[in-house]
Amino acid sequence: MFPEIVDALRESYEVEHNPEDRPWPPEELARRLRGARGVLATVMDRFDEPLLAQCPDLEVISNIAVGFNNIDVAACSRRGIRVTNTPGVLDDTTADLTWALLMAAARRIAEGDAYVRAGEWKIAFGVQYFLGQDVHHRTLGVLGMGRIGQAIARRARGFDMRVLYCNRTRLPEAQEQRLGADYAERDRLLAESDFVVVMAPYSPATHHLVGAAEIAKMKPTAILVNSARGGVVDDEALVYALKHRRIAGAGLDVFEGEPRVNPGFLELRNVVMTPHIGSASAATRMTMCRTAMQNMVAVLEGREPPNLVNVIPA
Ligand code: DGY
Repeated sequence: MFPEIVDALRESYEVEHNPEDRPWPPEELARRLRGARGVLATVMDRFDEPLLAQCPDLEVISNIAVGFNNIDVAACSRRGIRVTNTPGVLDDTTADLTWALLMAAARRIAEGDAYVRAGEWKIAFGVQYFLGQDVHHRTLGVLGMGRIGQAIARRARGFDMRVLYCNRTRLPEAQEQRLGADYAERDRLLAESDFVVVMAPYSPATHHLVGAAEIAKMKPTAILVNSARGGVVDDEALVYALKHRRIAGAGLDVFEGEPRVNPGFLELRNVVMTPHIGSASAATRMTMCRTAMQNMVAVLEGREPPNLVNVIPA
């Protein structure tokens, strides 16, 4: 946690701070939370029924994230614990990182960087060196057109791309026009897109939203980007598809069971990976922490938090 946030909280509250880059395991988390009314949490901290049962004083779990699949929200509601998140403040930053992965995979940036560093670059210019894919004037498919999906789509304009999107609910026509995005059923999006970006939150309903069957519908030249959540893509199926060149490449910021990464990815050159850093610009992470702090303090002061996720039964 940024020291500024800890210091600001210490002005009014007794604060138990985890200064290490080591999430507290469940038993330790339960012990540290004994007597605590609020917690600032990250997606590494799991709040399930057994843990909540050990934290009878907890009033609010304030996630420093827009996603909250680390929290059993229904269990929190039953116990009267408010759950909050940090929507909106990270949309552009996450969209930027998504584009960085898309571009890196398309133009083989990580591969080229490794090649130069390894001293393998012996001939200054080769006509067929590192041939990649054009991004401009091609088709971008966005699976999940919430705020971040829309920020990703907006950026495609600068590349003169055609944008297809698929979402649980179709956007109003005026919004589609503003974004320059056409609605497409999932299968058509998969079949027609050169770049498929996954931007759906994780839930049981989106588990393996993109698996072997979906990848089989993509073009062999297509690139898949996942900067949403591990588990929305079936990593095992993706490793297989990349290995057998069923699709051309992938850009991944999130993984099933992270920080463990499917070892199959590590052997492949046609995947570029980052360690869950979608929202990790200095400014945005600070804003997320401030937002999370405001959410938590609002509950502790008996006010309605700005970003409440759950409904507490009366
Ligand atoms: C989010 O906000 O959900 C990011 O993935 C950080 O956890």
